This record gives sequence, structure tokens and C-alpha cells, in this order.
Amino acid sequence: MLIAGNWKMYKGAAETAEFCVELKRALADLEGVDVAVCPPFTSLAVAVQVLAGTDIAVAAQNVHWEPEGAFTGEVSAPMLRELGVYGAIVGHSERRQYFGETDEGVAKRARAALDAGLSVIACVGETEAERDAGDTEDVLRRQVSVLEAEDNLVIAYEPVWAIGTGKTATPEIAQEAHAFIKTLLDVPVLYGGSVKPENAADLVGQPAVDGALVGGASLDVESFAAICLSATRS
Ligand code: PGA
Repeated sequence: MLIAGNWKMYKGAAETAEFCVELKRALADLEGVDVAVCPPFTSLAVAVQVLAGTDIAVAAQNVHWEPEGAFTGEVSAPMLRELGVYGAIVGHSERRQYFGETDEGVAKRARAALDAGLSVIACVGETEAERDAGDTEDVLRRQVSVLEAEDNLVIAYEPVWAIGTGKTATPEIAQEAHAFIKTLLDVPVLYGGSVKPENAADLVGQPAVDGALVGGASLDVESFAAICLSATRS
């Protein structure tokens, strides 16, 4: 069971330090759940520093496929490793929607990160129009087909219509999509999309749901800790 907090473009270094000190305290007695926070690049170092000696991992929100080079604005896997970062998200729908990331690019990012020793959370998920058109399975098949099963790879199923909208997939919808993804690739699958303390237990309680990738509700220590704690009871 993994609960990861995707902070998106929120929390600079000072706020990150404060958050991590509080999170450490709030999760001191947590057992049986892996926890990760995914701050923006500029806040990774301080998160690693404050969370050193705890079981709370720090992951980035993206990673480039080359170790170095003329790729303005990108950050590589060895650079993340040097900071003590444990993993990276790749293929988040916001990267696909706003920054033109493709399945092939996502696959390259995942491959390079895994080869460099990072864990990877690869995001997949259909839009509302794709679901309404009955294309959910085709979209998931296409997005998952570029990835290869590996010990350090986790998929996050994030239906785009449920991200930041307050419209959560029902536990049944999540279970169905997760079970389908697992027929394509035998890896753990996290659910993402408006996960909150009130719905987390029901979602992660589904047999094919192996944890959650939490956006908005991970920005508040109390709500993120409550989600982590509710996962121990599922
Ligand atoms: P949300 O975001 O929890 O705010 O819906 C999830 C995500 O984008 O990873």
C-alpha cells in the first residue's frame, strides 16, 4: 500500500520544510503503509533533508530521459538521485494536456528513471469524452502498452475527469479500471482523482487498488496524514 502526495506547483522550500516537520510528527506511529511526497523540483532537497531517517520517501513530479544535455528546463534521473530523491512521477495528465507529453516520451522517461535506480509512478487515465465514448479500455491499453513491468514501477490510474474536480470515481469504477490495467501489466496500481480523507478508505479498500496518488488533499498535513492513516485500516 502506497500513499503518495502530488503537490503539483505548490509549496516552495520554506513551506515544504514546515510541512515535512509536521508530517513526520503526524505519521510517527504509522505502520504498514508506504508514504511519499512529491514536491516541486526546487523543494526536493529540503524535503529529503527534513525527512531523512524517516520512512517517508521523496519523489519528483517528472524526470527527463537523458542523464544530461541541452534540454532547457528539464531535470535528469542522476540529478534527482544525487539529491537523495527516491522516485519520480511520469506522464501525469497535466503534463500530457498542457505540455504535449506523449506515450512515447512518457515511456522514455520511465525507462531512464528505472535504469537510474529511481522508482516510477506512471500515470494513465481517460478523459470524460473518452469514457463517454466507451473508449476507456482502448485508452488505458494504449497508455500502458509502452510500459514494461518492473519491480520499481507503479501505475497510477487517474481518470482525467476526476482530477481536481471533486468528482471521484466510485470504488466500483476504480476497481474495474484497476483490474483491467492489471491484466495488461502486473504491477501495483494506485488510484488518483479527488482522493480525500472521507473517501480514501473505500477506494484503497478495493482489492485491485494498491494505494492512492493524492493531489489537492495532500497539501494539508492533517488531511494527508488522515488519508495515510485510513489506508492502514483497509
Ligand atoms: P486531485 O489530483 O487529488 O487534486 O484530484 C490528483 C492528481 O492529479 O494526482
